[in-house]
Amino acid sequence: MASYEINGGNLLNGTVTISGAKNAAVAILPAALLVSGKCRIENVPDISDVRILLEILEGMGVKIYKPERHVVELDCTDLQYTEPDPTQVTQLRASYYLMGAQLGRFGKAHVALPGGCNFAARPIDQHIKGFLALGAEVDETDNYIAMEPGENGLHGNRVSLDMASVGATMNVMLAATLLPGQTIIENAAKEPHIVDLANFLNTMGARITGAGTDTIKIKGVNSLKGGCYAIIPDQIEAGTYMAAVTAVGGNVLVQNVIPKHMECITSKLEEMGAKIINYDDSIRIIRNGRLRKATVKTRPYPGFPTDMQAQVCVCMTIAGGVSRLTESVYETRFFGYCTELESMGANIQINGKTATVSGVERLYGATVCAHDLRAGAALVIAGLAAEGTTRVEDIHFVERGYEDLIDKFTALGAEISRIED
Ligand code: EPZ
Repeated sequence: MASYEINGGNLLNGTVTISGAKNAAVAILPAALLVSGKCRIENVPDISDVRILLEILEGMGVKIYKPERHVVELDCTDLQYTEPDPTQVTQLRASYYLMGAQLGRFGKAHVALPGGCNFAARPIDQHIKGFLALGAEVDETDNYIAMEPGENGLHGNRVSLDMASVGATMNVMLAATLLPGQTIIENAAKEPHIVDLANFLNTMGARITGAGTDTIKIKGVNSLKGGCYAIIPDQIEAGTYMAAVTAVGGNVLVQNVIPKHMECITSKLEEMGAKIINYDDSIRIIRNGRLRKATVKTRPYPGFPTDMQAQVCVCMTIAGGVSRLTESVYETRFFGYCTELESMGANIQINGKTATVSGVERLYGATVCAHDLRAGAALVIAGLAAEGTTRVEDIHFVERGYEDLIDKFTALGAEISRIED
């Protein structure tokens, strides 16, 4: 296992460039299975989730070329039906997109159940509800989802989700793109990566409208041609660096962002005392006064993202006064990192969906453990803000979603190094 060793207290100054969005990339790469041609996808983040997904796709017969870093060319012209390797599929949550893509391309699917961060129960009943509505027969064994056409065949239909599920919205989009007829997804999730997937598919010839609203319409087409597409910047990676500057202090230009996607995060960090200046594709964040308390409730987009819960909590631990953080998407997400922060001197009381955070003067370095991707990122921020040395263990979680984290923070003046245990 590997760890980060961090000597805290250095202000963060300089420029950080944000990579392509993880949660867009892990949907767009499987979407290439639907394309009878060559796709060139740019701004692909070089993270372990993407590397595993590319290995899975290659094992399924996709011809993959990497002409340069962050660019992937996938050729699915002559793709034959092949099941994805289950041992790889169980290594990440986003492998569930292979279900919708396989069903959409081949009219059948056989995919192992996904893995990924286990900070909460993460069922896929809404994905299955969508596949059933599209006419699939779904067989759920202990470890697999197997699908084939039902007696009336596969066809467009109305899919009304019980909650605005990101994964289910994108999986239904993948399954429906090449089906005859029209599919309407109601109560669809509206995250930026959903719009990105729809834009990718439309670039390849799909007919999807309404992405980014709670109603998405998909008019089935016979086939998709190849093309070129660039993935949007990662809203959560950008938010993580902004939360780091807010917690640690400093003056940083965050480049390659879409300010509109950041509004829900920006407003909260400003409320806590950060000064923020928006440019066309970058944001400058400055923090040099005392942090102020805040009240945050996570919500689906355009609300404050659940994937920023842990990071903003670190800011709250050293803010003046008592802050409140309420989680509305994953009730048990606090347990991935709050105990670790308490070992660094934080004062956090969890009561159901709400954490009450009483600000302390400072955090102190300790040896802590990452239990999931965003919890790990939050512990890095805590280490950078703390007095003394912090060791964050099990950082493979962090490396699933953050490209070049050591280099990016070091360039901002942080003292952080990677240690192979
Ligand atoms: C995606 O997970 C992201 N992962 C998560 O990011 C993110 O936290 C989440 O969306 C919410 O924004 C990827 O995109 C790979 P959901 P997903 O379906 O699709 C419940 C990260 O840090 N639900 O929107 O699994 C579910 O339990 C990761 O990058 C069902 O009940 O999230 C949760 O309470 C962590 N049944 C809520 O809906 C279902 O079939 C939202 O889940 C699906 C979801």
